[in-house]
Amino acid sequence: MPSTYPSTGFSIATVQTQATNDEITLYTEIRLASLLNDPDSFGSVYKDEIVHSRSKFSNRINTPGRTTIFASLDSGQDLEEEEQGLLQVLPDTLVPADSRRLSPWLGTITALAPSLLRGPWEQTYPSKVTEALEQSDIEVWALVGMWVRPEHRGKGIGTALAQRALEEVKRLADSSKAAVKIDRLVLLEVYEHNFGAIKLYERAGFQMFVYPSNVDDPGKRRWMAYKILAAELST
Ligand SMILES: CC(C)(COP(=O)(O)OP(=O)(O)OC[C@H]1O[C@@H](n2cnc3c(N)ncnc32)[C@H](O)[C@@H]1OP(=O)(O)O)[C@@H](O)C(=O)NCCC(=O)NCCS
Repeated sequence: MPSTYPSTGFSIATVQTQATNDEITLYTEIRLASLLNDPDSFGSVYKDEIVHSRSKFSNRINTPGRTTIFASLDSGQDLEEEEQGLLQVLPDTLVPADSRRLSPWLGTITALAPSLLRGPWEQTYPSKVTEALEQSDIEVWALVGMWVRPEHRGKGIGTALAQRALEEVKRLADSSKAAVKIDRLVLLEVYEHNFGAIKLYERAGFQMFVYPSNVDDPGKRRWMAYKILAAELST
Protein backbone atom coordinates (compact mmCIF):
# COMPACT_ATOMS: atom_id res chain seq x y z
CA MET A 1 0.00 0.00 0.00
CA PRO A 2 1.43 3.39 -0.90
CA SER A 3 1.60 5.94 1.93
CA THR A 4 0.74 9.48 0.89
CA TYR A 5 2.10 12.64 2.46
CA PRO A 6 -0.67 15.12 1.57
CA SER A 7 1.13 18.37 2.41
CA THR A 8 4.21 17.39 0.42
CA GLY A 9 2.65 15.80 -2.67
CA PHE A 10 4.62 12.55 -2.71
CA SER A 11 3.87 8.90 -1.99
CA ILE A 12 6.09 6.08 -0.84
CA ALA A 13 5.56 2.57 -2.22
CA THR A 14 7.32 -0.79 -2.52
CA VAL A 15 8.01 -2.67 -5.75
CA GLN A 16 6.14 -5.97 -5.58
CA THR A 17 7.85 -9.33 -6.08
CA GLN A 18 7.86 -9.19 -9.88
CA ALA A 19 8.63 -5.63 -11.00
CA THR A 20 6.54 -4.28 -13.87
CA ASN A 21 8.23 -3.08 -17.07
CA ASP A 22 7.66 0.54 -16.02
CA GLU A 23 9.21 -0.13 -12.61
CA ILE A 24 12.29 -1.67 -14.26
CA THR A 25 12.61 1.46 -16.42
CA LEU A 26 12.17 3.84 -13.49
CA TYR A 27 14.58 1.88 -11.31
CA THR A 28 17.20 1.89 -14.10
CA GLU A 29 16.78 5.64 -14.58
CA ILE A 30 17.06 6.55 -10.90
CA ARG A 31 19.96 4.21 -10.27
CA LEU A 32 21.98 5.76 -13.11
CA ALA A 33 20.88 9.29 -12.15
CA SER A 34 22.08 8.71 -8.59
CA LEU A 35 25.51 7.51 -9.71
CA LEU A 36 25.83 10.41 -12.14
CA ASN A 37 24.76 13.11 -9.66
CA ASP A 38 26.40 11.87 -6.47
CA PRO A 39 29.46 9.83 -7.45
CA ASP A 40 30.95 10.25 -3.97
CA SER A 41 28.01 8.70 -2.12
CA PHE A 42 28.01 5.18 -3.52
CA GLY A 43 30.27 2.16 -3.85
CA SER A 44 29.61 1.85 -7.60
CA VAL A 45 30.21 4.25 -10.50
CA TYR A 46 28.11 5.47 -13.47
CA LYS A 47 30.54 4.35 -16.17
CA ASP A 48 30.39 0.76 -14.91
CA GLU A 49 26.59 0.61 -14.77
CA ILE A 50 25.63 2.58 -17.91
CA VAL A 51 26.96 -0.37 -19.91
CA HIS A 52 24.68 -2.86 -18.13
CA SER A 53 21.88 -4.43 -20.13
CA ARG A 54 18.24 -3.91 -19.20
CA SER A 55 18.07 -7.52 -18.05
CA LYS A 56 20.87 -6.86 -15.57
CA PHE A 57 18.79 -4.08 -13.94
CA SER A 58 15.69 -6.26 -14.21
CA ASN A 59 17.41 -9.22 -12.54
CA ARG A 60 18.74 -6.96 -9.82
CA ILE A 61 15.39 -5.43 -8.90
CA ASN A 62 13.77 -8.89 -8.98
CA THR A 63 16.43 -10.62 -6.90
CA PRO A 64 14.72 -12.55 -4.08
CA GLY A 65 15.58 -10.82 -0.81
CA ARG A 66 15.79 -7.30 -2.33
CA THR A 67 13.02 -4.85 -1.52
CA THR A 68 12.99 -1.66 -3.56
CA ILE A 69 11.13 1.29 -2.08
CA PHE A 70 10.47 4.45 -4.04
CA ALA A 71 8.94 7.90 -3.75
CA SER A 72 6.84 9.27 -6.56
CA LEU A 73 4.66 12.29 -7.14
CA ASP A 74 1.06 11.83 -6.05
CA SER A 75 -1.10 10.66 -8.93
CA GLY A 76 -2.44 13.36 -11.16
CA GLN A 77 0.74 15.40 -10.93
CA ASP A 78 3.47 15.50 -13.57
CA LEU A 79 7.06 16.56 -13.21
CA GLU A 80 8.18 19.57 -15.21
CA GLU A 81 9.79 18.72 -18.54
CA GLU A 82 13.23 19.62 -17.20
CA GLU A 83 12.74 17.13 -14.36
CA GLN A 84 12.49 14.12 -16.68
CA GLY A 85 15.89 13.01 -15.48
CA LEU A 86 17.67 10.57 -17.77
CA LEU A 87 14.47 9.15 -19.29
CA GLN A 88 14.96 11.23 -22.46
CA VAL A 89 18.62 10.47 -22.95
CA LEU A 90 19.16 6.82 -22.03
CA PRO A 91 19.35 4.44 -25.01
CA ASP A 92 16.25 2.52 -26.18
CA THR A 93 17.86 -0.64 -24.86
CA LEU A 94 17.45 0.72 -21.31
CA VAL A 95 14.37 2.94 -21.73
CA PRO A 96 11.91 1.61 -24.31
CA ALA A 97 10.64 4.48 -26.50
CA ASP A 98 7.06 4.14 -25.23
CA SER A 99 8.11 4.71 -21.61
CA ARG A 100 9.87 8.06 -22.04
CA ARG A 101 6.78 9.91 -20.80
CA LEU A 102 6.80 8.18 -17.41
CA SER A 103 7.17 10.39 -14.37
CA PRO A 104 10.55 9.52 -12.81
CA TRP A 105 10.78 8.40 -9.21
CA LEU A 106 11.74 11.16 -6.79
CA GLY A 107 13.83 8.94 -4.55
CA THR A 108 14.64 5.36 -3.66
CA ILE A 109 16.16 3.03 -1.06
CA THR A 110 16.67 -0.75 -1.07
CA ALA A 111 16.47 -3.23 1.80
CA LEU A 112 18.58 -6.40 1.59
CA ALA A 113 17.64 -9.61 3.40
CA PRO A 114 20.23 -11.66 5.35
CA SER A 115 20.49 -14.22 2.50
CA LEU A 116 22.09 -11.51 0.30
CA LEU A 117 24.66 -10.41 2.85
CA ARG A 118 26.98 -13.37 2.89
CA GLY A 119 30.51 -13.10 1.54
CA PRO A 120 33.04 -10.26 1.31
CA TRP A 121 30.71 -7.51 2.53
CA GLU A 122 30.20 -9.40 5.79
CA GLN A 123 33.94 -9.31 6.39
CA THR A 124 33.88 -5.51 6.67
CA TYR A 125 31.33 -5.44 9.51
CA PRO A 126 32.40 -3.91 12.83
CA SER A 127 33.85 -6.65 15.08
CA LYS A 128 30.89 -6.44 17.50
CA VAL A 129 28.54 -7.43 14.68
CA THR A 130 30.79 -10.28 13.52
CA GLU A 131 30.97 -11.64 17.08
CA ALA A 132 27.20 -11.47 17.53
CA LEU A 133 26.70 -13.20 14.16
CA GLU A 134 29.13 -15.96 15.14
CA GLN A 135 27.14 -16.56 18.29
CA SER A 136 23.88 -16.49 16.28
CA ASP A 137 22.67 -13.70 18.54
CA ILE A 138 21.40 -11.47 15.74
CA GLU A 139 20.19 -11.46 12.16
CA VAL A 140 21.60 -8.72 9.91
CA TRP A 141 19.66 -6.78 7.27
CA ALA A 142 20.98 -3.83 5.26
CA LEU A 143 19.78 -0.67 3.57
CA VAL A 144 21.56 0.48 0.41
CA GLY A 145 21.17 2.87 -2.52
CA MET A 146 19.37 5.74 -0.74
CA TRP A 147 19.01 8.72 -3.10
CA VAL A 148 16.63 11.66 -3.56
CA ARG A 149 16.63 13.89 -6.66
CA PRO A 150 18.47 17.12 -5.80
CA GLU A 151 15.49 19.33 -6.74
CA HIS A 152 13.26 17.40 -4.31
CA ARG A 153 15.54 17.31 -1.28
CA GLY A 154 14.62 18.89 2.04
CA LYS A 155 10.94 17.91 1.75
CA GLY A 156 11.13 14.85 4.02
CA ILE A 157 11.36 12.27 1.21
CA GLY A 158 14.63 10.74 2.49
CA THR A 159 13.23 10.47 6.00
CA ALA A 160 10.02 8.87 4.72
CA LEU A 161 12.03 6.37 2.62
CA ALA A 162 14.19 5.38 5.62
CA GLN A 163 11.13 4.98 7.84
CA ARG A 164 9.33 2.88 5.22
CA ALA A 165 12.42 0.71 4.74
CA LEU A 166 12.55 -0.01 8.48
CA GLU A 167 8.83 -0.88 8.46
CA GLU A 168 9.42 -3.27 5.54
CA VAL A 169 12.33 -4.97 7.34
CA LYS A 170 10.16 -5.40 10.45
CA ARG A 171 7.33 -6.85 8.33
CA LEU A 172 9.62 -9.22 6.43
CA ALA A 173 11.58 -10.27 9.52
CA ASP A 174 8.28 -10.92 11.27
CA SER A 175 7.02 -13.22 8.53
CA SER A 176 10.35 -14.97 7.92
CA LYS A 177 10.44 -18.72 8.45
CA ALA A 178 13.44 -18.31 10.76
CA ALA A 179 10.99 -17.40 13.48
CA VAL A 180 13.62 -17.46 16.17
CA LYS A 181 13.47 -14.89 18.89
CA ILE A 182 16.62 -12.99 18.06
CA ASP A 183 17.19 -9.28 17.60
CA ARG A 184 17.59 -7.88 14.08
CA LEU A 185 20.26 -5.36 13.21
CA VAL A 186 19.69 -3.14 10.18
CA LEU A 187 23.05 -1.93 8.91
CA LEU A 188 23.95 0.75 6.42
CA GLU A 189 27.23 2.19 5.26
CA VAL A 190 27.78 5.91 4.94
CA TYR A 191 30.80 8.07 4.14
CA GLU A 192 32.09 9.97 7.15
CA HIS A 193 31.78 13.30 5.27
CA ASN A 194 28.10 12.78 4.38
CA PHE A 195 26.78 14.86 7.28
CA GLY A 196 23.27 15.32 5.84
CA ALA A 197 22.70 11.59 5.43
CA ILE A 198 24.20 10.80 8.86
CA LYS A 199 21.89 13.34 10.52
CA LEU A 200 18.88 11.89 8.73
CA TYR A 201 19.76 8.33 9.76
CA GLU A 202 20.37 9.39 13.36
CA ARG A 203 16.96 11.04 13.45
CA ALA A 204 15.48 7.77 12.11
CA GLY A 205 17.06 5.93 15.07
CA PHE A 206 20.35 4.64 13.59
CA GLN A 207 23.53 4.82 15.64
CA MET A 208 27.06 5.16 14.35
CA PHE A 209 29.51 2.51 15.55
CA VAL A 210 32.33 3.95 17.60
CA TYR A 211 35.56 3.79 15.60
CA PRO A 212 39.07 4.19 16.98
CA SER A 213 40.55 7.46 15.71
CA ASN A 214 43.42 5.62 14.03
CA VAL A 215 41.10 3.42 11.95
CA ASP A 216 42.87 2.77 8.66
CA ASP A 217 40.23 3.44 6.01
CA PRO A 218 41.07 6.04 3.37
CA GLY A 219 37.47 5.88 2.02
CA LYS A 220 36.18 6.76 5.52
CA ARG A 221 33.17 4.51 5.20
CA ARG A 222 31.28 4.04 8.43
CA TRP A 223 28.63 1.56 9.54
CA MET A 224 25.45 2.69 11.24
CA ALA A 225 22.95 0.35 12.85
CA TYR A 226 19.30 0.27 13.88
CA LYS A 227 18.31 -2.45 16.31
CA ILE A 228 14.94 -4.17 16.13
CA LEU A 229 14.40 -6.05 19.37
CA ALA A 230 12.92 -9.54 19.09
CA ALA A 231 10.15 -8.36 21.43
CA GLU A 232 9.03 -5.82 18.78
CA LEU A 233 8.28 -8.69 16.39
CA SER A 234 5.26 -10.85 16.93
CA THR A 235 6.89 -14.19 16.00
C1 LIG B 1 20.71 12.11 2.01
C2 LIG B 1 19.46 12.36 1.19
C3 LIG B 1 18.88 10.99 0.78
C4 LIG B 1 18.42 13.12 2.04
O1 LIG B 1 17.21 13.22 1.32
P1 LIG B 1 16.13 14.35 1.64
O2 LIG B 1 14.88 13.97 0.95
O3 LIG B 1 16.66 15.69 1.36
O4 LIG B 1 15.96 14.16 3.21
P2 LIG B 1 14.91 14.90 4.15
O5 LIG B 1 14.18 15.95 3.40
O6 LIG B 1 14.09 13.85 4.81
O7 LIG B 1 15.84 15.54 5.24
C5 LIG B 1 16.81 16.49 4.85
C6 LIG B 1 16.55 17.81 5.53
O8 LIG B 1 15.30 18.33 5.13
C7 LIG B 1 14.55 18.72 6.29
N1 LIG B 1 13.13 18.44 6.04
C8 LIG B 1 12.47 17.31 6.31
N2 LIG B 1 11.16 17.45 5.97
C9 LIG B 1 11.03 18.68 5.47
C10 LIG B 1 9.96 19.40 4.91
N3 LIG B 1 8.71 18.87 4.83
N4 LIG B 1 10.19 20.64 4.44
C11 LIG B 1 11.43 21.17 4.51
N5 LIG B 1 12.48 20.53 5.02
C12 LIG B 1 12.29 19.31 5.50
C13 LIG B 1 15.05 17.80 7.35
O9 LIG B 1 14.81 18.38 8.63
C14 LIG B 1 16.49 17.75 7.01
O10 LIG B 1 17.11 18.90 7.50
P3 LIG B 1 18.54 18.90 8.13
O11 LIG B 1 19.43 19.40 7.04
O12 LIG B 1 18.43 19.81 9.26
O13 LIG B 1 18.88 17.49 8.51
C15 LIG B 1 19.74 13.21 -0.07
O14 LIG B 1 20.39 14.38 0.32
C16 LIG B 1 20.60 12.51 -1.11
O15 LIG B 1 20.09 11.79 -1.97
N6 LIG B 1 21.95 12.72 -1.05
C17 LIG B 1 22.88 12.13 -2.01
C18 LIG B 1 22.97 10.62 -1.89
C19 LIG B 1 23.32 10.17 -0.51
O16 LIG B 1 24.11 10.78 0.19
N7 LIG B 1 22.71 9.03 -0.10
C20 LIG B 1 22.98 8.43 1.19
C21 LIG B 1 24.03 7.40 1.03
S1 LIG B 1 24.36 6.57 2.57
